[in-house]
Amino acid sequence: MEVNEAVFVKSSANVKECPDGVFPEHAFIGRSNVGKSSLINALTDRKKLAKISGTPGKTKLINHFRINNNWFLVDLPGYGWAKVSKKDKAEFEKLIRSYILQRENLLSLYVLVDIRHKAQQIDLEFMQWLGENNIPFCIVFTKADKLKRIGEVEKSFERFKEEFLKEWEDMPEYFITSSVNKAGLDELLLYINKVNKLYFENNQR
Ligand code: GTP
Ligand code: MG
Repeated sequence: MEVNEAVFVKSSANVKECPDGVFPEHAFIGRSNVGKSSLINALTDRKKLAKISGTPGKTKLINHFRINNNWFLVDLPGYGWAKVSKKDKAEFEKLIRSYILQRENLLSLYVLVDIRHKAQQIDLEFMQWLGENNIPFCIVFTKADKLKRIGEVEKSFERFKEEFLKEWEDMPEYFITSSVNKAGLDELLLYINKVNKLYFENNQR
């Protein structure tokens, strides 16, 4: 799938403010700094569509982007950053969880995980919560370009998988990506396209 048009629609502080759910929606989530905004820019081939920063917690609202006048791509605030008050943390959690549970046109969630690190408790717990709530999700490994030695990406992936399969029977759909060298991005877009197609077929009748 080619991205011909990518338009920022709006930032919303809660699920009620989100744009009318007229399109199928795909949302990126994950720890702060994992590369959600970078991935959105790389997928859409727009350098400044989503705001990127070295400071964790840059994205604090639900950001909707409209792609090809056909589907929504959503940048969610990152979870799990250290330098934040308990009150703020609780508010972000509420925002994220209510969006996930209430947004009817949300077709799939993409949990971004830094390929360099071993499976983090906060990510595993979050995915556990998704499972308990029957929310379909994929895992998107980010920053693969940072692992330069031969076999390093595979090794890191296997280490994650081993940990993940302690709780789950199978791996979900997953993608190994880099926003820098664009690895895995075609596959991710293809998958989104496939899910959208099914959605449109089922909603035409
Ligand atoms: P929050 O909005 O704070 O939740 O962060 P985010 O998940 O949106 O991360 P963001 O895209 O802002 O990226 C964080 C940092 O990681 C930036 O310095 C990016 O340049 C860097 N980064 C993101 N993706 C990649 C990647 O694929 N490869 C490399 N090498 N760096 C990346
Ligand atoms: Mg961001």
